[in-house]
Amino acid sequence: MPYNRATFITSAPDISRLPADSGIEVAFAGRSNAGKSSALNALTDQKLARTSKTPGRTQLINTFALDEERRLIDLPGYGFAKVPIEMKKKWQKSLGEYLQKRQSLKGIVVLMDIRHPMKDLDMDLINWAVGSNIPVLALLTKADKLKQGKRKAEVLQVRKALSELDGDITVHAFSSLKGLGLKELAWQLDDWFLGP
Ligand code: GTP
Ligand code: MG
Repeated sequence: MPYNRATFITSAPDISRLPADSGIEVAFAGRSNAGKSSALNALTDQKLARTSKTPGRTQLINTFALDEERRLIDLPGYGFAKVPIEMKKKWQKSLGEYLQKRQSLKGIVVLMDIRHPMKDLDMDLINWAVGSNIPVLALLTKADKLKQGKRKAEVLQVRKALSELDGDITVHAFSSLKGLGLKELAWQLDDWFLGP
């Protein structure tokens, strides 16, 4: 798929304001600051999604169109403590609703910082996806921060732990900065968007 042709559609405060629930959608999810928006920008080779050093930047459900039938979704990050409780509740609610109700959701890219993967909320999300038969691509982000040996060891460890869940889960190291794992991401998305 020509991911560089993605265009911004809308920022929705809740799922009622999303585009019609038809076609195929792939969502990028993960803790605040995990690198979701950066991964989307690297994939599309555009500055589509706002990135920030301040966690909690993406508070709306941002939607991008690849074509009439296919969309990429940048979900609000979870697990960031330092935001007002009301705001947190609101956007965690929209995240939960999106995951539970969206019929067009075909796959989830779960982004986790390679230095701190598989936190409780990550595991909640992955377990939910497995329970709902939604395939998961786990990207261990900011892999440029680790030396190669440590990076590989981390990928193997996460792969082993997640293989026990018995779901459709793939794990790769990823770096938006270095372009690492970008091909693997595009291949997985092609598979979800275009079928085998
Ligand atoms: P929220 O929208 O707040 O949930 O965050 P996010 O998951 O969208 O993270 P974002 O892409 O905004 O990146 C957060 C921070 O991590 C920014 O300072 C990025 O520059 C940095 N970052 C993202 N990807 C990488 C990477 O591959 N390597 C390094 N070294 N830093 C990265
Ligand atoms: Mg973001």
